[in-house]
Amino acid sequence: MNSGLRRRKNIARTALPTAVLLLIGSAVTVQSSAPAAAAETTLRAAAAKAGLFFGVAASPNRLYPIVGQEFNQLTPENDMKPDRIATSSGGLQNTSGADTLVNHAQSNNMLVRGHTLVWHSQAGALQGASQATLNNFIGNAINRWGSRIAYWDVVNEALEDNNTGRRRNQWPHTMNRDANGDGDFFDSGDTDVIRDSFIRARQVVQAGGLTTKLCINDYDVDGLTVQGGTPNRKADALYDIVRNYRQYIDCVGFQAHFNDNPNSIITNDLQANIQRFADLGVEVHITELDIDDDLSNNDIGTGQAENYRKVVRACLNVAQCTGITVWGISDSESWRSSERGLLFTGGNGSYQKKAAYHAVLDELNKGRSSTPPPTTPPTTPPVTPSVPPTTPPVDPTTPPPTTPPPTTPPPTAGCSATVSLDSWTGGFVATVRVTAGTASISRWSVQLTLPSGATVTNTWNANRSGTSGTVQFSNVSYNGSVNGGQSTEFGFQGVGTATGLTPVCTAA
Ligand code: XIL
Repeated sequence: MNSGLRRRKNIARTALPTAVLLLIGSAVTVQSSAPAAAAETTLRAAAAKAGLFFGVAASPNRLYPIVGQEFNQLTPENDMKPDRIATSSGGLQNTSGADTLVNHAQSNNMLVRGHTLVWHSQAGALQGASQATLNNFIGNAINRWGSRIAYWDVVNEALEDNNTGRRRNQWPHTMNRDANGDGDFFDSGDTDVIRDSFIRARQVVQAGGLTTKLCINDYDVDGLTVQGGTPNRKADALYDIVRNYRQYIDCVGFQAHFNDNPNSIITNDLQANIQRFADLGVEVHITELDIDDDLSNNDIGTGQAENYRKVVRACLNVAQCTGITVWGISDSESWRSSERGLLFTGGNGSYQKKAAYHAVLDELNKGRSSTPPPTTPPTTPPVTPSVPPTTPPVDPTTPPPTTPPPTTPPPTAGCSATVSLDSWTGGFVATVRVTAGTASISRWSVQLTLPSGATVTNTWNANRSGTSGTVQFSNVSYNGSVNGGQSTEFGFQGVGTATGLTPVCTAA
């Protein structure tokens, strides 16, 4: 068997969000013991098999057959932006372009990403609006399409350029107030348009019983570092926002407009950055991918096709990276046509595949990696002193020291666990958070009893014994060590209904 076939045979079955599961239907039920399947010939089929969506930015005048053939997710490139659809009081207008796109997506079995609700740019009649008006618009827009929109970009491009790590110094962020002057907007007395917009969006989703997931989206947040190994402070700032507002945020979009700007290149730590967001429990998406073909001229890539391959591989290697969207079909129709950053040449419905297309298809066909990379760096071995410690000779005349009884018992290894469930008819994904007690732990296990009829089909970040009834999970090599008071997460996916799970955590 050639190595390509062997790799495909070993494709890991991965955690999938409800939206992706609905979209790919039976594709995820393929057992790893099944014979290797033939390579898929479209991006959407190859992506679905690997458990993610592959989407495109679209406009109503370019809904050519290729859109539904190659892609299974659609983002309106301009038709859902406030300058198209918002009135100055937060009402809706001119939604026909957006409606056309949502209908087209639905009839071609594609997911929709709504783009975007709160943004300094293309704000139209909302420019300068109050939070109350923004909230009105958020409610109207989310409710218009309801669960037909799988993901909404609630807040877009909140962070400043040039790797400062600060919020933008322009509307709507001018509404922000740092009440206690501690340099952030995370305190309850602070005003933060990001938090307040997500709170509003969350209320609307909950009140309507919608399945829509709520995302924050930005650019130059792709790597842990930027050119020259400088920390990516913009990515760090986004990470802090997601960590602080985790209860309102379901997903993070890395726009991934890669070009020669020092803060916009592809760095080798893209996958590690995706992983750290995934470790917060959110889905990660590459939302607006295009790659300047001049990137082959600097030292971070050997050409556009290879650069595309790197980005797709980084996403595939993280189970919670559940979708990639390219920002247009062909170079000539791209917002940055001079960079020739997309997968096709041609235009007006007649397109030719580039080398980058074939690289992406090939990489998707390889599927996800079977073993996730470590999420925590390996611990360094203790330093051995160069001079061995000398034991002082025992003086026989000195009485042995008496040890006073301890007044507080030493901390014992312990842990607790909580489960959060994402359920749909006939299936569920459970995320289990393991938190160490006051002492650090070096390994843990969690026991859960599933209701009858529920069966685990897939697990990540844990070893498992059993699939139904009482099931035991234990740490894998890279997440057993948890410092006192700190947490780690694992997850599993199953069929049936999993309510009332009571995890029992033990640690050593
Ligand atoms: C771009 C569109 O592609 C252009 O057609 C439009 O003129 C300007 O906006 N980040 C975003 C997208 O979030 O909405 C932008 O789309 C590209 C950058």
